[in-house]
Amino acid sequence: MDCPSCGGRCVRPAAHVLNSIDYVYMACRSCKNEPHIDKNAPRRSLQTAGLERCEHCGKAPLDLVMLEAMDLLVEEGLRDDREPLRSVGSPMIEIGYPLPYPPRLGNSQLILLMERVNRNAASRLIEIPEIKGVIRRSRHIPGVVDKNGHTWELLAGCDMRCDIIQSIYGDLVIYKNQSKIHIEFPRESYPKIRILEGLRIAGRSVIDGLCGPGTLGLVCVLAGAKKVVMNDIWLPAIENVLINLDANRDLLGIDSIELFDRGEKLVGSSPRLVGRAKGACEIDVFHGDIRELFSAVSPSDICILDHFPGAPLDEIKRAGSSCDEIVVI
Ligand SMILES: C[S@@+](CC[C@H](N)C(=O)[O-])C[C@H]1O[C@@H](n2cnc3c(N)ncnc32)[C@H](O)[C@@H]1O
Ligand SMILES: [Zn+2]
Ligand SMILES: [Zn+2]
Repeated sequence: MDCPSCGGRCVRPAAHVLNSIDYVYMACRSCKNEPHIDKNAPRRSLQTAGLERCEHCGKAPLDLVMLEAMDLLVEEGLRDDREPLRSVGSPMIEIGYPLPYPPRLGNSQLILLMERVNRNAASRLIEIPEIKGVIRRSRHIPGVVDKNGHTWELLAGCDMRCDIIQSIYGDLVIYKNQSKIHIEFPRESYPKIRILEGLRIAGRSVIDGLCGPGTLGLVCVLAGAKKVVMNDIWLPAIENVLINLDANRDLLGIDSIELFDRGEKLVGSSPRLVGRAKGACEIDVFHGDIRELFSAVSPSDICILDHFPGAPLDEIKRAGSSCDEIVVI
């Protein structure tokens, strides 16, 4: 599967990713101890002698990658060496899951989310081997919070990463183009999934009306739903749902996936069927506004509504009111 962001091999089948997570960010026996650099101390005060990539496995401690990024930003005049390492930005590991230790990074395993960065510095940052992509964030959450859609800016490299979603029904890998999809990092106790685990899903029909990249709808497929409709107003979210169907097809018992024309509109309105998967569960994927969804889709047994915190919900709840059970996450 080609990565829609860089054309490379970033999107791997879920089984490959899940089989790798136990060791992907581990140190080898030859790796040096964790440096534990103070992220709040001025760069100029840090003692960094002896901090290097492991000669045996080639991995770098996260602190080393952030230090190299900081030094490059100082060179570019975008940071002052009195600023701390924390001022570089937020590091996001390519495969996100609750990690009990700081990661040791191989090539292209870190995406930086930054402010105060330009295209020139970003193109130099991705020359640091562990850095896969540089995203410039703004004050808007990527996606559609109310009416308009927003994206962050991918300045260099690739923004495709995934989160591992663990549930009692099994694990899934949810890919996200992180410059276009809001950040939601799985913690050990992931309340949204715990809510789903408390529902009776097996054999029932489910609509995930605000599905984002598809996390909750796909967990319902794992939980044995007989039909799942996934819908989102934001085209990049829907494009990620289609990738996630394919990446998880074996885990989800999917036999075939059909894709239909998606159109160009980033923010949808009337429902457009853009994908259909068949197998253990029938899965339809729609791009559109949930307030219009029921002109094309029959009400389901369960309608899941997971909006952004603080976003207006009244009209959206009204839209789903013909379903037997509304679950607001
Ligand atoms: C919090 S996110 C959903 C996250 C998703 N459940 C997950 O776990 O990955 C909310 C989603 O609602 C979508 N949205 C906002 N307004 C909508 C509307 N009127 N109709 C359909 N989707 C909408 C946004 O694009 C966004 O993807
Ligand atoms: Zn890519
Ligand atoms: Zn090593």
